[in-house]
Amino acid sequence: MLNFTYFGAMKPVLSRIGDDMSSLTGVRAIMKDIIETLRAGAGQEFINLSAGNPLILPEVEQLWRNCTADLLASSEYGDVVCRYGASQGYQPLLEAVAQDFNQRYGLNLSDRNVLITPGSQSLYFYAANAFGGLTTSGSLRKIVLPLSPDYTGYGGVTLSAEALVAYKPTLDIDRAAHRFKYRPDFNQLEINEQTGCVIFSRPCNPTGNVLTDEEVRKIANMAAAYDAPVLIDSAYAPPFPALNFTDMAPLFGGNILHCMSLSKAGLPGERIGIAIGDESLIQTLECFQTNLCIHSPRYGQAIAARAIASGALADLSSNVIRPFYQKKIHIVEAALDQAMPDTIPWYLHRGEGAIFCWLWLDELPITDWEIYQKLKQVGVIVVPGSTFFPGLHEDWIHKQQCLRISLTGSDMELEIGMKRLADVVKQVY
Ligand SMILES: Cc1ncc(COP(=O)(O)O)c(C=O)c1O
Repeated sequence: MLNFTYFGAMKPVLSRIGDDMSSLTGVRAIMKDIIETLRAGAGQEFINLSAGNPLILPEVEQLWRNCTADLLASSEYGDVVCRYGASQGYQPLLEAVAQDFNQRYGLNLSDRNVLITPGSQSLYFYAANAFGGLTTSGSLRKIVLPLSPDYTGYGGVTLSAEALVAYKPTLDIDRAAHRFKYRPDFNQLEINEQTGCVIFSRPCNPTGNVLTDEEVRKIANMAAAYDAPVLIDSAYAPPFPALNFTDMAPLFGGNILHCMSLSKAGLPGERIGIAIGDESLIQTLECFQTNLCIHSPRYGQAIAARAIASGALADLSSNVIRPFYQKKIHIVEAALDQAMPDTIPWYLHRGEGAIFCWLWLDELPITDWEIYQKLKQVGVIVVPGSTFFPGLHEDWIHKQQCLRISLTGSDMELEIGMKRLADVVKQVY
């Protein structure tokens, strides 16, 4: 009889996909460094402004507690947790989403236009590989990110790394105010017969940028000419979590897949993503999901159905979640305006949404990674910006000049953190 008492020496040969998928991409690699820093510096107080994890707001926690209590007390409970369900999603949630959006935006959706996935990250994985990659005739369909920087998680969604392409933006700079904004560069952006799908976040993680309605329409029309789906990653958009600080209209119809997440509305652990779009696109993604994991867990879906159908989630989003983070942005803006020297070419991206600030240090004499290390030495952790350019392979010094600052610190942490950052910046220039 074999006796397996020794573990740790296995070195299986990995496939190319195995190799790609078992390495950490983008910000996940930095997170490892951050966790090790926090562990090694036990006892040292760090101001950790790296997190993508939303804060737990008491009103939001209470909403999910109430929905859970309601589910527990209902006759539906056994059916929800003791049974498999349909791949497309839990029927009451599909209907709640369709009804809410029909009412809110004057649409004509049926439950067939909605798909529930285990988090929205999986949705981008399905789409990137269903619409992008090699076709049966051997041509490569590209996954186009029209405005770089964008969400670091897109870097790991494709099984054909060569299929991911991102485009440099143009920069709209207000030098006197130390503010700037990225815009898609329509002179460079290529959407053509090789485009499999287009993905962008709106509002954007990491920059807080919100593409204008007109920019979105233009991109969607360019892709429609080639029947390419456009996934609008609305993880921070209205109606939930409504983390937009500028007016924006969600756009629907045609080749647009409106993709949502409940992670920033208090349910990151339950893994709920929602796609709304044309029935044929939804069916393709649903089949992918059946093959991968059968369906999204049903407990989270059942409590989400309650929070959406009652309108409570949309109310809390605009009355609690949005003002909470909007105040944090103002704190960072005011702290930087006060502490940063006027003579240094620093520019904060316009804070139009999401839970981050994005700082560009033009002419920075060192790299983003080096300033990240210096900030750690004064007890402040942010994320080096170069991790947020998935698919942008060309050299561009700007990639090494930015930092992402998470708004998940306390007011005081944000104020002190920005003061220390300004001191390090002064020293470095
Ligand atoms: C822009 C964006 N898209 C997608 C995701 C993934 O979210 P989910 O938890 O729904 O998988 C995140 C998470 O931070 C995000 O910021």
